[in-house]
Amino acid sequence: MPCANKCLRESMADINLIKNLSEILGPSGFEDRVRSYIKSIIREYADEVFEDIFGNLYARIGEGEPRLMIAAHMDEVGFMVRHITENGFLKVVNLGGINPASALGAEVAVMTPNGDITGVIGSIPPHLMRDGGKPQVTIKSLFVDVGALSRKEVEEMGIRKGTPITFICKFKRRGNTIIGKAFDDRLGCAALIELIRTIERPREGSVYIVFTVQEEVGTRGAAVAAYRIHPKVALSIEGTIAADIPGVEPEEAVTFLGKGPSIRIMDAVMIANQKLFNLLIDVAESNNIKYQIQLSPKSGTDAGRIQYAREGVAVSNVSVPTRYSHYPASLARIEDYEGLVRLLEAAIPKILEAFR
Ligand code: CO
Repeated sequence: MPCANKCLRESMADINLIKNLSEILGPSGFEDRVRSYIKSIIREYADEVFEDIFGNLYARIGEGEPRLMIAAHMDEVGFMVRHITENGFLKVVNLGGINPASALGAEVAVMTPNGDITGVIGSIPPHLMRDGGKPQVTIKSLFVDVGALSRKEVEEMGIRKGTPITFICKFKRRGNTIIGKAFDDRLGCAALIELIRTIERPREGSVYIVFTVQEEVGTRGAAVAAYRIHPKVALSIEGTIAADIPGVEPEEAVTFLGKGPSIRIMDAVMIANQKLFNLLIDVAESNNIKYQIQLSPKSGTDAGRIQYAREGVAVSNVSVPTRYSHYPASLARIEDYEGLVRLLEAAIPKILEAFR
C-alpha cells in the first residue's frame, strides 16, 4: 500500500467538526452554544465531563498523578451593545482585541433571546468621505445597522444594552486551505476534541482537557480552571498569529502557514518550561512532524495564566498558524492543523512520563 501513510493523513482532520465550531457564535462571556456543542460530542469518550460556574468545560481521561492540563478557549472576539440611537443604530463596545477598521462593512449577528439578527457594521460611503476617503475609525465610531428605523423597532427585536454581537462567516474549504471565522481558537477546540476521541487512557496520570471561557478579555476562565485542576504541567492550544503577509518583515511574522504547528518558547507573559519545550521539539523530530518555533513578544495565551496556579505549573503552547485572527474571516492550512493533532497525540504519553 504505497499511499497508506499519506491517505491516512489526508483523512485525519474532521472538516465537519472544524466547520461547525467555526460557524458557532460565542463571543467572550457568551460561550454557551460552543460549550453545548462540544459537550454533546465528548461526553461518550472521556472518563468524566464537568463544568464550573464560570462556564469552563472539562474532560478527564485517566486518573491520578501527574495531572496534565491542555486548554483551548471557546470564546471569540465580538462586540456588545452599548447604546441604541434614536434612529435605530447600535453603538458598541468590543469584547477582545478588534482592529476597528477591519470591521467596517462586516456582516454580524446580534444574538437576541428571540434568535440571531443579521446586521452590517456601518460606515460612511466612500463617496461622502473627504480627504481621500481615510476617516479615523475607532470602536466608538463603529455602529451596527440591523435595518431598524427607530429605537423602538430595535427593542422590539429583543435587542437591548448588553446584547452580544459576533462576526458571521460561512466556512469554506478548498484543498488544503480553510477559510472561516474564529479559527482563534476553534481550531484549538477542534484539535482537542479529536484528541479526546483518539488518545489512549494513560496507564499512570491524568489528562484534563479544558475548554476555557473569556480568554480574549484577559485569560479569565483559565485562571479558575488551573486552580481547580492543580496541574503539574500544562499546554495551551491556539489558532495563533501568522503575519507572513505583505508589509510585514519575516522576523515579525510570528508564524508561517505551511511550516507545521508552532511550539512556543516565549510570549509577552510566559517563557516556556525548558524541559517541556525540549520534549515537544524531540517528539516532533522523532515523529517526522514539521514544526516551527514561536516567539510572540506582543501577545499571550491561557498558558501565561495557568503557570501561576498554586505553586506554579510547567507550561508551553502549541498552535496552528492562522492568518487574520480577530478579523471577520481567517485563513489556515489543514496540514498545519493535522500536524498539531499528531504532535499532541505523540507528546501526551511522553509528558506524563517526564513529569511523573
Ligand atoms: Co486565542
